[in-house]
Amino acid sequence: MTINQVKLLELPKILDERGNLSFVESEKHLPFNIKRAYWIYDVPGGEKRGGHAYHELQELVIALSGSFDILLDDGKNKKTFTLNRSYFGLYIPKLIWRQLENFSTNSLCFILASTDYDENDYIRDYYQYKKLQS
Ligand code: TYD
Repeated sequence: MTINQVKLLELPKILDERGNLSFVESEKHLPFNIKRAYWIYDVPGGEKRGGHAYHELQELVIALSGSFDILLDDGKNKKTFTLNRSYFGLYIPKLIWRQLENFSTNSLCFILASTDYDENDYIRDYYQYKKLQS
């Protein structure tokens, strides 16, 4: 898996004077079926999340509020995305190392995931990850 398979997806947005609305549907907008959603919030200044890859899990990461950076690494190349609009989602395929950092105050990171939570799916050792990717 390579960093080139990471995609920044622009989601539909319905602009309205009463407030804007965006949405996502598995079949239409994502290369996977949504099995789980989780979110990261109340992140203290300077903290980092992630720092791992997954064997199988695919995700769409959305900054529902505020902003943060996602640092991606496929073992050879690195790329950083800044998410700061709620109508963009970053699609991350399986086997991509990721770290989330630089969270703004009150940011809300919402993640749609292709599988249920499974600790065995995590690759938390970077050297093991590099070996898997080589
Ligand atoms: P983890 O995925 O390691 O957090 P990070 O966002 O920093 O990568 O998850 C932190 C803890 O939360 C870990 O003990 C597992 C638990 N957890 C669940 O129980 N269910 C979930 O869906 C997720 C994402 C995490």
